[in-house]
Amino acid sequence: MPGFVDALNQQVAREFAASQQYVAIAVYYDSETLSQLASHFYRQAIEERNHAMMIVQYLLDANQQVVIPGVDAPRSDFSDVAGPVRLAVEQEKTVTDQIVALARLARDEGDLVGEQFLGWFLQEQREEVASMSALLAVVDRASDANVLLVEEYLARINVAAAEPAAPAPSAAGGAL
Ligand SMILES: [Fe+2]
Ligand SMILES: [Fe+2]
Repeated sequence: MPGFVDALNQQVAREFAASQQYVAIAVYYDSETLSQLASHFYRQAIEERNHAMMIVQYLLDANQQVVIPGVDAPRSDFSDVAGPVRLAVEQEKTVTDQIVALARLARDEGDLVGEQFLGWFLQEQREEVASMSALLAVVDRASDANVLLVEEYLARINVAAAEPAAPAPSAAGGAL
């Protein structure tokens, strides 16, 4: 089992991979002229990139080795409008499990600073799973005939309101 620092480096790769997946989803929606869905996922892609850079900054601050990884290619073949959102919900649930495992590892190693750092990420995951699941419920209710209702839903809700109350960790080079 890798130590906490190695596991954090792996999480940097996963956050960048999540970012690439959201770019692929955004481009799919853009190609379908669903601009609200596209901009929702372009924004999510930037958030995931910022998560990666927050972990990079943490490793820099902790004077630990940080390796910027390559990432696996994202999925970009989608057959219907709901598919990408379903994939996104699964991705957010998987990331939640990964952050929980990281926090547990920090706790096992007696690394209370590392455990505390991950507190913000746990809040962020709770909110991201909730908001992405809500979006999936809306997409599932809207048939292909009225997918424009999904666009209206996204135009109405304030996605930025779904941020943790605590200040975000610093991102290396500054958050975008
Ligand atoms: Fe993330
Ligand atoms: Fe996320």
